[in-house]
Amino acid sequence: MILSIESSCDDSSIAITQIKNSKLIFHKKISQEINHSKYGGVVPELAARLHAKALPNILEECTQYFKNLKAVAVTNEPGLCVSLVEGVSMAKALSISLQIPILPINHLKGHVYSLFIDNSKTLFPMLVLLVSGGHTQLLHVQSYDDIEVLASTLDDSFGESFDKVAKMLGLGYPGGPIVEKHALNGDEKKFAFTVPLLKTSKLAFSYSGLKNQVRLAIQKYPQNRDDICASFQHVAIKHLIHKLKKVLQEKSFKNFAIVGGASANQYLRSEMQNLCDTNKMELHVAKMQFCSDNAAMIGRCAVDAYNLKRFVSLSDISINSRANF
Ligand code: KG4
Ligand code: ZN
Repeated sequence: MILSIESSCDDSSIAITQIKNSKLIFHKKISQEINHSKYGGVVPELAARLHAKALPNILEECTQYFKNLKAVAVTNEPGLCVSLVEGVSMAKALSISLQIPILPINHLKGHVYSLFIDNSKTLFPMLVLLVSGGHTQLLHVQSYDDIEVLASTLDDSFGESFDKVAKMLGLGYPGGPIVEKHALNGDEKKFAFTVPLLKTSKLAFSYSGLKNQVRLAIQKYPQNRDDICASFQHVAIKHLIHKLKKVLQEKSFKNFAIVGGASANQYLRSEMQNLCDTNKMELHVAKMQFCSDNAAMIGRCAVDAYNLKRFVSLSDISINSRANF
């Protein structure tokens, strides 16, 4: 079995995954959302202090599996430095005390592997849209080692833009689920926000301009919260579809997936299903509880890393807050 640790942002999580069949044996996550909510976003030092408290508590629940462990996996990039260090320190301590090797795991790759939790097979090649609080990326994933970034955001990420809109409207954090809920009662045609990067053929995403359009709308029509949420969400997703269509004009794919915290958005899921139907692709999504950050996806990714023998020595494990793939 592999014990995996995730602490890159504001979720403290540990999982145990069986190597031979990728079965998830144990998984627990303690989310800090409530603690950060009043600040409208994650406060790094507070996150680190809460990880230091939560991770040992979760670990206590997995001591029965210690004798079966063949490796310890940990998210070491990208993420908040002070948060990553909490998980990495625990992984180092376990590696020394249990005499098992360490597998450093890239958090973004972990999100891709959230699709294969409890499943020993992967489905590569695949076109993957990663939408989270830190990233908006379109990826061509061919294998564990072969991930090409086809497009990324020039400024804010998709999830971050929901967080900022919620903050401007005084709705709390994380903004994604709250904005989605308000949007259900609103009219998406009420505010004609312009779709970002519509006139350029550049394969990239941008959300800061849309955020500013929303800011101006809030100033002028503060009482129209639901319509603003609906119109914002509609255009934010239209932007993704516009760029995806561009990619699909050039190349066809059999499998398409959305991963990351924002892939829980039902409107996004149904729009992506329509896109897949038109382009004869199969849509893949992770189970709802594995869309946002969790150690189960890190553990599933670590099974492939283990089979590829991607172990590092204690002195070589590094933390890289801004890493890509
Ligand atoms: O993947 P994740 O848990 O953490 C990062 O790696 O960033 O993603 C969290 C992000 C937050 O920005 C949150 O607002 C967004 O995902 N999110 C959503 C929804 N649920 C979570 N965005 C839009 N609609 C949602 N339903
Ligand atoms: Zn994430």
